[in-house]
Amino acid sequence: MTPVHTEPLQVTPPAEVAEVHFDDDMEKRIREILKRYPTKQAAVLPLLWMCQERWGWTSPGIMNAVAERLELAPAFVEGVVTFYTMYQTEPPGKYLLQVCTTLSCQLCGTSGLVDHLKERLGIDFGETTRDGRFTLLDVQCLGACGEAPIIQVNNDYYTELTPEKLDQLLDELV
Ligand code: FES
Repeated sequence: MTPVHTEPLQVTPPAEVAEVHFDDDMEKRIREILKRYPTKQAAVLPLLWMCQERWGWTSPGIMNAVAERLELAPAFVEGVVTFYTMYQTEPPGKYLLQVCTTLSCQLCGTSGLVDHLKERLGIDFGETTRDGRFTLLDVQCLGACGEAPIIQVNNDYYTELTPEKLDQLLDELV
């Protein structure tokens, strides 16, 4: 298996992101992002992504700050966030396990991996282990069908997985 190279997520506790403000560095990045889009609304995805990289997830306070900065309705921003699986609306564990359950991965054994993961971790999709180490998510095609089955861990792909390789991977994610 490819050596494990995934860094744990840095997740800010809910109380600290109940209300957020953009610091000078973030404001600079926002201005750069806005230059690339014809309207403020069109920049909502990269702004949300910048925030999630900074705070580790996308709290209601973060959605409100993005809505205010882009002069959008908070409900619009919430609609965007809840549409995409890439935005986490609950604080995730240190490792976000995103399992592709689309056809190519299914044909190559994803179901067995999912059963194995759920049993080993004691959680279902959308849940986090009690120790805060892993969050398990069901996602659609990750665009690497030729190397199925695949799991994305934080920002990294692990491919051609078997239950044995998966156990090795989980053991190394500390
Ligand atoms: S179907 Fe799993 S990566 Fe495309």
